Amino acid sequence: MPSTQPSSGKIPAILVFDFGSQYSQLIARRLRSLGVSVQLVPHTFPLDKVSGAKGIILSGGPNSVYEKGAATMSRKILKLGIPILGICYGMQLLAHLEGGKVQRSSKKEYGPATLELLQKSRLFEGLPRSFSVWMSHGDQVAQLPKGFVQTASSTNSSNAAIEDKKRKLYGIQFHPEVEHTQYGKEILQNFVFGVCKCKRLNEIDNLIEKKIEEIRNVVGKERVICATSGGVDSSVVAALVSKAIGNQLACIFVNSGTLRKGETREARKLLQDTLHLKVKYVNAETQFLRALKGVSYGETKRKIIGREFIRVFDTSARGIKPAPSFLAQGTIHSDVVESARTDTGKKTQTIKSHHNVGGLPKKLRLRLLEPLRDLFKDEVRQLGLALGLPESAVWRQPFPGPGLAIRVVGEVTKQKLDILREADAIVREEIENAGLSRDLYQYFAILLNDKTVGVRGDQRAYAYPVVVKAVVSSDIMTSDWARLPYDLLSHLSWRITSEVPQITRVLYDITPKPPGTTEWE
Ligand code: XMP
Repeated sequence: MPSTQPSSGKIPAILVFDFGSQYSQLIARRLRSLGVSVQLVPHTFPLDKVSGAKGIILSGGPNSVYEKGAATMSRKILKLGIPILGICYGMQLLAHLEGGKVQRSSKKEYGPATLELLQKSRLFEGLPRSFSVWMSHGDQVAQLPKGFVQTASSTNSSNAAIEDKKRKLYGIQFHPEVEHTQYGKEILQNFVFGVCKCKRLNEIDNLIEKKIEEIRNVVGKERVICATSGGVDSSVVAALVSKAIGNQLACIFVNSGTLRKGETREARKLLQDTLHLKVKYVNAETQFLRALKGVSYGETKRKIIGREFIRVFDTSARGIKPAPSFLAQGTIHSDVVESARTDTGKKTQTIKSHHNVGGLPKKLRLRLLEPLRDLFKDEVRQLGLALGLPESAVWRQPFPGPGLAIRVVGEVTKQKLDILREADAIVREEIENAGLSRDLYQYFAILLNDKTVGVRGDQRAYAYPVVVKAVVSSDIMTSDWARLPYDLLSHLSWRITSEVPQITRVLYDITPKPPGTTEWE
């Protein structure tokens, strides 16, 4: 399905105008495989959105240019100075709009034909004088427009290739995009690199283009919602989907009350100010805390948070009009493996219930859009950087969906969450200031349930112990405790006990995984 959506302000190098040929998508695909950014657009694509493109290809189509109601385009586009290649119907239309004559051919050509090159052309550079091409046409250009010359002929059409070299307007009667045309790839290459001077995309830009095309093909004109947390995976997926479908995407950010210090502000800055996404903020702190009241078992807390999240999301999504059909999720390959759901359908043991996989609100009847599902974390990070996410966002440590609720051991209360938030902020700040964040997979604090005795000044203090955890790992399937410098640990302990009055004791977790998991619950 052609999309009218230019990718978030950046015009692709080549626009393929679709005049209804069965091969239109194939043209785009061929160019993509050459490493060129390309977008298939309807033939009615507006003039003001074209400038910035390095070249335009006019596809074939089922009409005859002289028929009433035949698919056409603005003539002004031909005057913009952008190189144009018309293929089959595209060439006939080009000739017709430029004042040439197109008529029914007495001998139609379908299938193979031999092309004879008649004179030098940038389009055929490096090719032999004669080769086999694939034709599919009943009309032909009978009279060339002013300024055009004939550059090739074929068995049944004398004007098999024409051009106005000065204005960089080219027409070919055959289809270079089909595999039966010999040197089709070279002709397209000559046009995009030789004439249009396109730059070859690097691997990551190519991946972005591929993902964008997939998203557009799946979503069409429907609407998508995305639950964004400010974490790397959901931010990358939101940025990618937004680049593919623009305003058809709406994001929702849920504050569950179990986020870290400053998290809502940072997420807002990233999503709204840096990525320019449309985000609906929902403060559901009270709802989550009410649901968690009196619950101390970790797995139950996880289930409750997953359930409440879906409820909040459901209510907020219903307020979005027109109604979305897709839910975009930042599921990456390791999530699929960890959540005991593999693509081959095999089940592995569930250690903890991750609510970001398999937690789709069924009654919303949304279809899942998971464009990162086949990617690994390092690829997602590269994608993020290429999409404009800052380094700090791309290298953020993972944070679990249930948030601090599984780092407060036992019952979760607002007071305990606030205490943990302060201690955790100190741990993060000190480790980041020490320049160690990139060496660690995760580093955070856990608040224990039972108070212990301490002394402050000359007073007895009865307060919570906090655990500092910092782990090294490449994939977190296994991990080891980080050998943090003693001075840093000492400084952390001093700062936490001085700045957070409800904490009197700081412990450091020296358990590897296995047997200890990363999260304490
Ligand atoms: P464990 O505790 O199993 O955690 O060693 C492995 C990794 O997964 C993260 N984690 C979660 N992430 N939703 C998430 O998005 C969850 O429910 C969840 N539980 C654990 C954990 O932080 C670590 O990176």
